Amino acid sequence: MALALLTDYTGGQLPAGAQAAKLYAQAKQAHQDLESGAGQGAGMRGWLKFPAEYPMTEEYGRIKAAAEEIKAKAEVLLVIGIGGSYLGARAVIEAVTSRYYNETRENTPAIYFTGNTLSESDFADLDRLIEGRDFTINVISKSGKTLECAVAFRYFKARLAEKWAGDTAQINKRIYVTTDEHKGALLQEAKENGWPTFVVPTDMGGRYSVLSAVGLLPIACAGIDVDALMAGAAAAQAAYKEPGGAFGENACDDYAALRYYYYKHRRKAVELFAGYEPSMVQFGEWYKQLFGESEGKRGQGLFPGAVTFTTDLHSLGQYIQQGRRILFETVLRFEQAANGISLEEEPGDGDGLNYLAGKSLFEVNRTAFQATALAHAKGRCPSLVLALPKRDAYNIGWLIYFFEKACAISGYMIGVNPFDQDGVEKYKNYMFALLGKKGKEHNRVRAHLKRVYGLEV
Ligand code: PA5
Repeated sequence: MALALLTDYTGGQLPAGAQAAKLYAQAKQAHQDLESGAGQGAGMRGWLKFPAEYPMTEEYGRIKAAAEEIKAKAEVLLVIGIGGSYLGARAVIEAVTSRYYNETRENTPAIYFTGNTLSESDFADLDRLIEGRDFTINVISKSGKTLECAVAFRYFKARLAEKWAGDTAQINKRIYVTTDEHKGALLQEAKENGWPTFVVPTDMGGRYSVLSAVGLLPIACAGIDVDALMAGAAAAQAAYKEPGGAFGENACDDYAALRYYYYKHRRKAVELFAGYEPSMVQFGEWYKQLFGESEGKRGQGLFPGAVTFTTDLHSLGQYIQQGRRILFETVLRFEQAANGISLEEEPGDGDGLNYLAGKSLFEVNRTAFQATALAHAKGRCPSLVLALPKRDAYNIGWLIYFFEKACAISGYMIGVNPFDQDGVEKYKNYMFALLGKKGKEHNRVRAHLKRVYGLEV
């Protein structure tokens, strides 16, 4: 079993007796509903069996071939997408390689993510980064109409056209599209121009799609072993298939049950995903979307935050230790050192650090984890620990599947549909109305804005 859920640092804040039995039975029921399709949003469970099945498909082979093509020709890959259409790829690339991927890569393109902002400064920065470099675009959008993504695609497509002076053969060789299989403006445009297309599965929301073409094409372009990533996820799929019923039988159920316990019985409002590896920062962003979009509805849900220690102990550590007691942590811990770096003895011991000489940095970081978890438990901020052997493609694939499944079970436990995200549409309605988009529904919003705020748009 690649992943272990440890409860040694909860400071005794754990369910027991009849309460525990009830919680694990609830998690089991939610798990059964997920497997059987009896739960809400059952049509969006494509991700549940995907890791074992997808590597057998023709598209999976095409992804690997396209990645080889891109690696051979591109100095830069611009990945254009937002939310579930980019967070997973970025998370995996940094988790498996490094937060310095772009500076340390060998024989793979630099990868920049755009389409996730409307900041003109960010576009200008990217303009400078692609200047004089052969760049390829992978645009990813299930709906094909998300504004941030569509704006960036239009903009960088124009840069490609400028670079190749309108030579359509050269331009078309440098655009890869990942979108819905049957519909959308992006699909239409791809067909008209002969751009290679990959599918965002209909039965998978963006935040559950990293192990589809959505994540796999950019991930493969970074030189990451996608077979190992999928093998890890497939092993997790097999390991977590059967619902548990008691602690220790299924880690997805255990995690969902314990989150529920902190939320409902300990009045926790915030779950902090904490790690000790800066290369996992983007993974924390993916985690935030997964849980935030899946659970934050109908006035429910833990607010998902993410912190990196020891860095954030020097900014948020004070609040975590002594602020409002509404937090618990889910700490990700890697069990194996990767680089064998240790501190040397320094003559004179001017900095007073000789007491650390001979200790590995891994050991020092591990001790920082222990000290922090103990201190936080003492301050009534319990930590659930997820222990994973190492930071490689296999284990990250496992972790992704673990979180996806635990999140779905957890959503069912709090009584929401973990696969929809109606709330995301609200800001879009206002934005489109304010930007002057045509259409009846935008007119309705404009009338509302005029009535309530006196805004003339
Ligand atoms: O998880 C989700 O469904 C969302 O975050 C979407 O991925 C995001 O809004 C982007 O949508 P689209 O892929 O349609 O451009």
